[in-house]
Amino acid sequence: MALVPLKRRRRAPSPSDGPPGAGRFPAVVLCLVEKRMGASRRAFLTQLARAKGFRVDGAYSAAVTHVVSEQNSGDEVARWLEQQREECGAGGDPALLDISWFTESMGAGRPVEIESRHRLRVTVLAPLGQQMAPYACQRRTPLLHSNQPLTEALETLAEEAGFSGSEGRSLAFTRAASVLKALPGRLSTLEELGPLPGIGEHSRRVIQDVLEDGVSVEVERVKLSERYRTMKLFTKIFGVGVRTASRWYQEGLRTLGDLQERNTKLTRQQQAGLRHYEDLNTPVERGEAESIGQMVQEAVQRFLPGASVTLAGGFRRGKPHGHDVDLLLTHPEAGREAGLLTRVVSWLDSQGLILYQHSQENSFTLHEGPEAPGGRDVLDRFERCFSIFRLEVQGGPGAARGWKAVRVDLVVAPVSQFPFALLGWTGSRHFERELRRFASHERRMVLNSHTLYDTRQNLFLPAASEEEIFQLLGLEYVPPAQRNA
Ligand code: UTP
Ligand code: MG
Repeated sequence: MALVPLKRRRRAPSPSDGPPGAGRFPAVVLCLVEKRMGASRRAFLTQLARAKGFRVDGAYSAAVTHVVSEQNSGDEVARWLEQQREECGAGGDPALLDISWFTESMGAGRPVEIESRHRLRVTVLAPLGQQMAPYACQRRTPLLHSNQPLTEALETLAEEAGFSGSEGRSLAFTRAASVLKALPGRLSTLEELGPLPGIGEHSRRVIQDVLEDGVSVEVERVKLSERYRTMKLFTKIFGVGVRTASRWYQEGLRTLGDLQERNTKLTRQQQAGLRHYEDLNTPVERGEAESIGQMVQEAVQRFLPGASVTLAGGFRRGKPHGHDVDLLLTHPEAGREAGLLTRVVSWLDSQGLILYQHSQENSFTLHEGPEAPGGRDVLDRFERCFSIFRLEVQGGPGAARGWKAVRVDLVVAPVSQFPFALLGWTGSRHFERELRRFASHERRMVLNSHTLYDTRQNLFLPAASEEEIFQLLGLEYVPPAQRNA
């Protein structure tokens, strides 16, 4: 019998030993499903794995990479996972494995390569059940879909959760809505969904209510609640976020009139937002967005011939109207774009076309690397102008005075970063979030609107087009019109 040298013998840590730490295999975090395995066997297997240097977490979190179960079907474990994600408000996309992977890994003293025989089979039920890929950036999501009443209900709850600061809950509802948007047809019963990824118990209840009764009582209650209505009113002011709106609500403010009566302190941006409240909350039509693009293009040509202006955001995804106009400026020769924005904005201003503007300088440098402070959370740090344009109109709410206020974002991207900026500014917001999550969880890459960084090779990966970025990520190309996740 092979004896283990004394100095290498270690006491098996007990589950009461506190947090397990990173273990010997930092890329592997196990979580064992108790159902059918039983509490005592689960505790025993946990001890065994920890003794071998594996990290085993007692509860599910986004850090978990391997979920191991015994005698459960793939669909059961998929449902379990959805529930855990919803409860802890975390995402994560762990491998769902049979106990055979665990046993072999314990025998080998290291995590063995996952083979298809180790994976639990998750089936998606007919008739709507096409195999739905887990990340929104792997799916095609058209602008028009067949489940509008369901997605509206879920998005109301997502918005409400956001207003309450529950980001995890908000994301869970957004994910569920996004899955429904990608279904090829109208859902008529909950059973048709099967254990689709991304739809937790709470969302299922809401879907069931809307399918059975036409409405969800919970959603209707939210829509009528004073807090939700007030938060919506205030967050629709340009420059007002959830934190400010929430503080005003707590101070007892309820209407736009209250802000004026109580002499609420407003930033210059919020004052402009309030002044043009009605216009800025009237949808911008595609034709209006194109006119503004044209105005900016003309100004750009005056100062830098050869520079281009690209309409991004929802309009690029095919939306017929939007809340603002997102324009990207670049020039095919690196560096020529420097100083362009200031000149363009001053000129437009001198022509009386700008009602409000504030600019931010480019604060991105490659030397800081992708994990520089704020580099991950802040979507991008391009030179940028947040503005309100004065657009001449013939019809609509501004017809009487002959003009309308329109929110416009001007963003300057150096040509080498342009494909990343275009991808990042085309949206939808959820599609972007999922792209970044996919890059980091599935590829160990950091994607933002400036660059793609491979953390395994410690390398920035350049790309000359959006198609190339999808290729570098190992994703099938999704055209803008199919990014309405
Ligand atoms: P928008 O908020 O303009 O959304 O941001 P949208 O899809 O065009 O929809 P509407 O019609 O205007 O309401 C456009 C995209 O730009 C990115 C986001 O990813 C979003 O999808 N964005 C926005 C940034 O990268 N940074 C920002 O500061 C704002
Ligand atoms: Mg937009």
